[in-house]
Amino acid sequence: MAGALAWGRRRLQLSFAKHPSLAGHSRWAKRVTRWIPGYAYGDEEVFRTDGASDAVEAARRQGFFRLAGQFAGHHPRSIIQSTEAARHISDLQFTRAYRVPFQFSPYVRTHLKLGGFVESSEGVHITDLDGRRYMDLTGSYGVNVMGYDFYKSCMEEAAQRVQALGPVLGSLHPCTAWNAERLCRISGKDEVSFHMSGTEAVMQAVRLARYHTGRKYLVRFCGSYHGWWDDVQPGPGNPMPPGCTYTLKEMDEDTLRVLSTRKDIACVLVNPLQALHPNRPAPGDSTLVDSSRSAGFDRQRYTEWIRSLREVCTRRGIVLIFDEVFLGFRLAPGGAQEYFGVDADIVTYGKTLGGGFPVGVICGRRSLMVRYREDRPADICFARGTFNSHPELGGQRAAHLQSQLFRRGVSVGDRPISSGRRVDATRWVVVAGSRRG
Ligand SMILES: Cc1ncc(COP(=O)(O)O)c(C=O)c1O
Repeated sequence: MAGALAWGRRRLQLSFAKHPSLAGHSRWAKRVTRWIPGYAYGDEEVFRTDGASDAVEAARRQGFFRLAGQFAGHHPRSIIQSTEAARHISDLQFTRAYRVPFQFSPYVRTHLKLGGFVESSEGVHITDLDGRRYMDLTGSYGVNVMGYDFYKSCMEEAAQRVQALGPVLGSLHPCTAWNAERLCRISGKDEVSFHMSGTEAVMQAVRLARYHTGRKYLVRFCGSYHGWWDDVQPGPGNPMPPGCTYTLKEMDEDTLRVLSTRKDIACVLVNPLQALHPNRPAPGDSTLVDSSRSAGFDRQRYTEWIRSLREVCTRRGIVLIFDEVFLGFRLAPGGAQEYFGVDADIVTYGKTLGGGFPVGVICGRRSLMVRYREDRPADICFARGTFNSHPELGGQRAAHLQSQLFRRGVSVGDRPISSGRRVDATRWVVVAGSRRG
């Protein structure tokens, strides 16, 4: 009886810690997506779904078709290529269909053709197949922090550095050792593992946490994105039912209570970008369409939140993972850890760190990064990936890191990477002592 009561209490605590919106209830959210019927506005209603007057409707219609005419006139080659290629590229079909809310999508697809192919880039601009230049507001999913020319120079430098080795896999190029050492220094962690994407890095961080704690559940916060793998995307978009994931409220006492009492939680995943909009997803295309975007940031409150998370995770033996795939080192040379003054147990990086190439990186404490047990040799934590330490990707990361460290004056104190080419040591800024001693 006492056991049943305790179970009931914990269950209730878990329910309270869920965000009241559908985003906090993955099962319900999935159910609801199956109930929403498909429908679309035709020519009669599409410009007046909000009950707009005839004059407003006419102005909208005129503006829309003027834009469509401009696109068709300015970008004919790009549009033709995109329309033809979409027949074979499912990704293109998907993005075309969901560029605007689904009710408007067929109309917009029919009348407002867009090109999705580009030929060159320069700084913050890209040029399409018709020679038209655009300012690239999307920044390659946040990868382009420094302007495309910077990444191009990293790519060139990387290709030269590893040219002699080529695509040899399994054995490592010295770049990889150099990268690992610098990443450990920047993150304040002992070990590094390399992966091909942010999603894979997060997958591996969670797997390691489960392996070392012997517990199943990961806690993620409502609205936060950590890639597209099943356990971090338990709601709509994933055909599987939610598995070993608790999606809880961020910046909330109820969540701390759950972390303090449950014994099945292996790790907590924090995406510090959420500080701008706790419990809500980052704005997507359709948010921009309805202009409802808002963001706010309370540094002190978020810092207090992260510190209480740190405290409860330490007390309960839960692995605290900072997912800095998006933020990287934008907040401080040491990333969110330094900015908020909190040491995570594992940190994941990606995106711009690759200097334009695919990347996912985990930095962690040695006790969590180890993938085997001396006393139980058959009990390992498997992680592989054919291209994980590809020489060119290593060279690219090195070129990027080198330049970043230099720009920011972060302690390096030596020359990067061997492989024949010596780099001018005067380019390096040496700051006494490293950030974490
Ligand atoms: C915080 C965070 N984690 C993980 C990912 C997944 O990275 P990738 O797209 O490289 O798999 C992203 C991508 O946007 C991200 O923003």
